[in-house]
Amino acid sequence: MAAPVTHTIDDGIAVLAIENPPVNALAHPVRAALLAAVLAAAADSRVRGVMIHGTGRCFVAGADLHEFDAPPRAPLLNDVLLSIEALSKPVIAALHGLALGGGLELALACHYRCATTDTSLGFPEIKLALMPGSGGTQRLPRLVGAKVALEMRLGGEPVNAARANELGILDRLIAGSDLVGAAKSWLREIIAEGRGPRRLRDIEPNPDSDDSALYTRERERLALRTSGEMACRYIAECVEAAYHQPFDAALALSRRRFEECRVSLDSRALRHLFFAERPAAPAHQNARTVQKVAVVGAGTMGSGIAVSLAVSGHDVVLIDSDPAAVDAGLKRVVTTIEAAARKGRTSDAAARAAIARVAGAHELAAVAPAELVIEAVVESMEVKRDVFRSLDRLCRSDAVLATNTSTLDIDGIAAATARRPDVVGMHFFSPANVMRLVEIVRGAASGDVAVATALAVTRRMGKLGVVVGNCFGFVGNRMLYAYGRENQLMLLQGASPSQIDAALRSFGMAMGPNAVGDLAGLDVGYRVRRERADRPKDPRYYRVADLLVEAGRLGQKSGRGAFRYEPGSREAQADPEVETLIVAESGRLGITRRTIADEEIIARCIYALINEGAAILQDGIAACAADIDAIWCNGYGFPRRRGGPMFHADTIGLPVVLAGIARFSREQGAQYWAPAPLLAELAQRGSTFAEWDRGRMAKQSRAGTPP
Ligand code: COA
Repeated sequence: MAAPVTHTIDDGIAVLAIENPPVNALAHPVRAALLAAVLAAAADSRVRGVMIHGTGRCFVAGADLHEFDAPPRAPLLNDVLLSIEALSKPVIAALHGLALGGGLELALACHYRCATTDTSLGFPEIKLALMPGSGGTQRLPRLVGAKVALEMRLGGEPVNAARANELGILDRLIAGSDLVGAAKSWLREIIAEGRGPRRLRDIEPNPDSDDSALYTRERERLALRTSGEMACRYIAECVEAAYHQPFDAALALSRRRFEECRVSLDSRALRHLFFAERPAAPAHQNARTVQKVAVVGAGTMGSGIAVSLAVSGHDVVLIDSDPAAVDAGLKRVVTTIEAAARKGRTSDAAARAAIARVAGAHELAAVAPAELVIEAVVESMEVKRDVFRSLDRLCRSDAVLATNTSTLDIDGIAAATARRPDVVGMHFFSPANVMRLVEIVRGAASGDVAVATALAVTRRMGKLGVVVGNCFGFVGNRMLYAYGRENQLMLLQGASPSQIDAALRSFGMAMGPNAVGDLAGLDVGYRVRRERADRPKDPRYYRVADLLVEAGRLGQKSGRGAFRYEPGSREAQADPEVETLIVAESGRLGITRRTIADEEIIARCIYALINEGAAILQDGIAACAADIDAIWCNGYGFPRRRGGPMFHADTIGLPVVLAGIARFSREQGAQYWAPAPLLAELAQRGSTFAEWDRGRMAKQSRAGTPP
């Protein structure tokens, strides 16, 4: 491996170039090499000034997150930065691209800073429930005051170079592309003028910018956060300490606080998701180029998909055999895109261009020019097979044919065509223009090219594509059925929809399962269950949901589902009528109702999820546990601060989960509570899903090879 820091001397200037692709993260070898280079420059009498820059796409995007699960290894970044700051020769940082987190802290430890105009500077740590741990909380307030420093850290959003220059974080903006040349000339000026080092640690923070009310306000605001609350509190504490403690004491405090954040569950979970949500790099090698897309079915889902495609630059034709549905679908597309422009999410010009890219048609023949077709018609095998038979006849020979089914057998759909390798699933989540997740379903005959093409289009839409295998419900909905099954059983056994939803919200789920069912429409699941051949022959299975549909309670759209809704309101209200219905049904089925504790509600729903997740892994339907976590956190409102169901299982310990499952098997019967063999095996070995993932080299699998 090439040295991560190269050290050259050019006419009295030591040029230290950080080279650790892809983003020059400050991993241990980089820190060690940087320290060695700095000490060498200090000792070299030829050197009169030092310039630090990054090679490749950016200066430095931060500490190396791969290292954060283990205790820090010397030299710590903090110590490297103190050595840089202490140099008696002027040190400048020359920034381009990104100077984030530890990268910005490195820049702040240098004596002067310049940057190209395309540079973003910031402290994104809070997004991972972390805080700057190497002096950022101490040096930045000395330059910009407490208010701006807190904004930059607590928001986590970077500022551009022009703003950083205005704020005084930068001393010079560099126009043009020769950053290194311009920075060297500037350093020569500094040396010639005899300006010497300017250490931020030696600047007294301006007492006028200290504001105890500000810290209190921030702390109060932070109490509302769902994650990163501790990191925010510590950032406020450390910024305040910058004003009231000597530099070294406040720095030591910030270092200790950083360590507390690093080992916190919150941060570990968010770091796990950071990597779980990385798109697999080689996924698109074989992708076909797609510009023209046909969406078949102009309902809510079809028009949501059309919006996502159009705003990401695709030409879209929205097709429905019912001309009125086409008109309504196009109208939804226009209103959705216009609303995004009104809210400032896109410019007016971009919105107009996106709208102009969408056309409507009521003849299926309009699919002819499309390179990708996404079918989003009603969830019925018969209807979908009919559509695919026609697509086979009408589409160009190199088109990829995708179905947006959420549960149906991809192979059954593909078999309606004579081009099974070109058929994949693209399971979008509702509302499709908002939800980031798309499950890319690989059927038995789906080819690499079709999978890669679906992934590439998903990525171009700015969405997260996860490749999954073919089975009832794929990954997300198959697990949802296990989770929902427990909800349904507990309704019959004595819990109310409100109690169950409140318990699961207290666990951190964005919504409870009963409110979700009402939002999605209870008739959707009803239809799916009727299509499902392997539906358990248990009279209790989803009985309450069926009962509600049979009573005309379809959810929000009919103003009544598991809850009641006032006209025009989405607020779920408990409905005594539902309780009466359920109590009668429990009696009819001979179920004795009892009080169910919130702990039992959470454990049964979450352990059911985990157990099904383990079975899915074992069946090869998901390539790795991290994929399951990415799916549940992006498609089903699982709390990010718990890292997803499989990460959560690791954190509570697989033996604990296994013991819980054994208990439910005793209490509830073995029908639904046989432990997944993989879960049992990992628990008995004292292992984890994370370890299992490592063993599977999960990332390669996610690149599109069969999960
Ligand atoms: N540590 C280790 N690896 C990192 C990293 C970090 N701090 N930041 C990015 N990477 C890696 C990514 O894992 C990815 O690797 P891969 O190609 O093997 O999947 C690669 O760098 C590119 O990142 P990606 O996110 O795909 O590129 P992008 O251009 O969309 O975004 C960043 C670049 C830097 C803005 C984004 O990766 C990011 O926000 N990183 C975290 C920055 C951070 O929090 N820094 C403070 C840490 S304390």
